[in-house]
Amino acid sequence: MRPPSPLLILLYVTLSKTVKVVSKRGSVDGCTDWSVDYLKYRVLQGEPVRLKCALFYGYIRANYSQAQSVGLSLMWYRSSGLGHSDFEEPISFDGIRMSKEEDAIWFRPAEIQDAGLYSCVLRNSTYCMKVSMSLTVAGE
Ligand SMILES: *[C@@H]1O[C@H](CO)[C@@H](O)[C@H](O)[C@H]1NC(C)=O
Ligand SMILES: *[C@@H]1O[C@H](CO)[C@@H](O)[C@H](O)[C@H]1NC(C)=O
Repeated sequence: MRPPSPLLILLYVTLSKTVKVVSKRGSVDGCTDWSVDYLKYRVLQGEPVRLKCALFYGYIRANYSQAQSVGLSLMWYRSSGLGHSDFEEPISFDGIRMSKEEDAIWFRPAEIQDAGLYSCVLRNSTYCMKVSMSLTVAGE
């Protein structure tokens, strides 16, 4: 067998990049992502910190209680690589060290492994808005 031609390799790379972009958009179901210049939180390991969903502070007019009363739900996702890493997973809150309270996440306290990119998503079946915030946890 002959090795694949450089053209084929190029085509393959281009295609897989396209597919990746499509699946990334698809994974948020046409959600409007406002995370261009996202908020950066910085905290010392062992200190408590509250990450507020920035959507309610400058992106949309509603506050959390208004959004809730019209049936929108707020969800949080996390990707552990800083920068726009690909994989987001839902956060499981233990309700003790990490808890979801209204429009925010509390870390009591923050640990090194909490560092990452946090996205809050506000949605119903026809509307979706998303913004991300980064959290850096500095060791002592
Ligand atoms: C949310 O906004 C409404 C209307 O502006 C206001 O009455 C209410 O007090 C606000 N709630 C909070 C928790 O800020
Ligand atoms: C979803 O939320 C938006 C914004 O609040 C609202 O305009 C729309 O009617 C809602 N759609 C449904 C199906 O509730």
